[in-house]
Amino acid sequence: MALTDFDLVLFGGSGDLAMRKLLPAMYSRDVCGDLPATARIICVGRQDCGQDEFIDIVNNTSKPLIKAPAVTPEAWARFTARIVYVSLNATDAGTYAPLVEALRTDGAITRVYYLATPPHLFAQICDNLKENGLATKNSRVVLEKPLGRDLASAKQINAEVGQVFEESQIYRIDHYLGKETVQNLLALRFGNILFEPLWRREWISDVQITIAEKLGVGNRIGYYDTSGALRDMLQNHLLQLLCIVAMEPPTSIAPDAVRDEKLQVLRSLKKFTPATLAQNIVRGQYRAGHVDGQAVPGYRDEPDAPERSRTETFVAMKAEIDTWRWAGVPFYLRTGKRMADSLAEIVVRFKQIPHSIFNQPTNSFQPNCLVIRLQPDEGLRMNLMAKTPGEGMRLKPAELELDFRETFKSPRMDAYERLLLDVLRGQLTLFMRGDELEAAWEWVEPILKHWEQDESLPTPYASGTWGPAAASALIGRDGLQWREEA
Ligand code: BG6
Repeated sequence: MALTDFDLVLFGGSGDLAMRKLLPAMYSRDVCGDLPATARIICVGRQDCGQDEFIDIVNNTSKPLIKAPAVTPEAWARFTARIVYVSLNATDAGTYAPLVEALRTDGAITRVYYLATPPHLFAQICDNLKENGLATKNSRVVLEKPLGRDLASAKQINAEVGQVFEESQIYRIDHYLGKETVQNLLALRFGNILFEPLWRREWISDVQITIAEKLGVGNRIGYYDTSGALRDMLQNHLLQLLCIVAMEPPTSIAPDAVRDEKLQVLRSLKKFTPATLAQNIVRGQYRAGHVDGQAVPGYRDEPDAPERSRTETFVAMKAEIDTWRWAGVPFYLRTGKRMADSLAEIVVRFKQIPHSIFNQPTNSFQPNCLVIRLQPDEGLRMNLMAKTPGEGMRLKPAELELDFRETFKSPRMDAYERLLLDVLRGQLTLFMRGDELEAAWEWVEPILKHWEQDESLPTPYASGTWGPAAASALIGRDGLQWREEA
């Protein structure tokens, strides 16, 4: 479906996200011919600089980050001609005149406000847009994470933005939902007859969801130290993946059909109490170590890190979903920085065969396992038992593999490219609804509260490892191992 003409307004237009992700994503779509000839990107920033000066910043900051499609002088010139820089103070409605002037008033032109700003500015920006007559019925607003830091602040954001925009105009981004494999998981579950009958407690023994990064906190300490892995990754990205794995089949791919089912999963997550929480959650903080053979500093030695920071850079937990489908099936969730490898994957392990007809004991059969790999290489892998060639009947684990890159040679799309196109097309399915956001915060809130009161420190782990030993013990207690450690 071709896009209609649009004005995409980026608040935080000279910030990190715009430069690193949003502008490169729009460039890529431009080169692929998706953007209407007169579509524009209006970058809003506080910085008092002229148009040429701003384009210089984009040339120096954003352009070098674009690897593919290659930047050619013609394509880049066409792209930067779409960019308009508007300087204003987002918190002062009286300074919005240049934005009013820059926006086209033709109602047929899609108008999107992308708030790539700290969340405490969301309400004020929405009010100021309204005051200046810019929050029209046809406009859309995109909210970038962090979407609050607890249930109360998330509710406040929902309420305040909701005063200006209808729910159907609000796009809450979780970029993990824009990743190719997440949608492939929907295709796998609901485009094949094979999995659905087995996708339940009778046949599945456990599910592991891991997002591991080799990167440390980098230059984001100011934000990260007030956030930590639970808020930064688990409350959003990991829970969204869990929802897609665990939800009941929606009746269609329509936004509310999918979001209703995800909401049910979030509401069915078993609540932690202080006692169950201590048993089922491990938090860690990285110390100095080696990643890819390079010595790296510990979290507290990162520039500007508080000496006694108690912020967790790693979380592992055992979660459960209280429904007929999933009762008793552990969902092990794990995320961390400065880990042994960078990967994101979902592992669905099926149960052991009930009886061996071969001359091998039942426990020599590796249970079937479906690995859904989000990154670095996107694909699906199914572990099966197969006969080794030759005489006799000896069975060994073998793999069926679907490498998306190999199978579908078509060009890739980055998560932000896909999600930006969805916003511009008005497709809400891959965006969180307000009640989903609140349900996710509601579930993590007891953990946050407990950690606030608990004087103990996160368990240290050496950079370049899979986290604290306690994380292996957590899953080991159930007779299992994390996949990378098996
Ligand atoms: C962001 C987090 O949401 O996701 C970062 O704030 C994290 O801390 C990033 O590094 C990971 O995303 P990706 O797509 O690189 O796996």
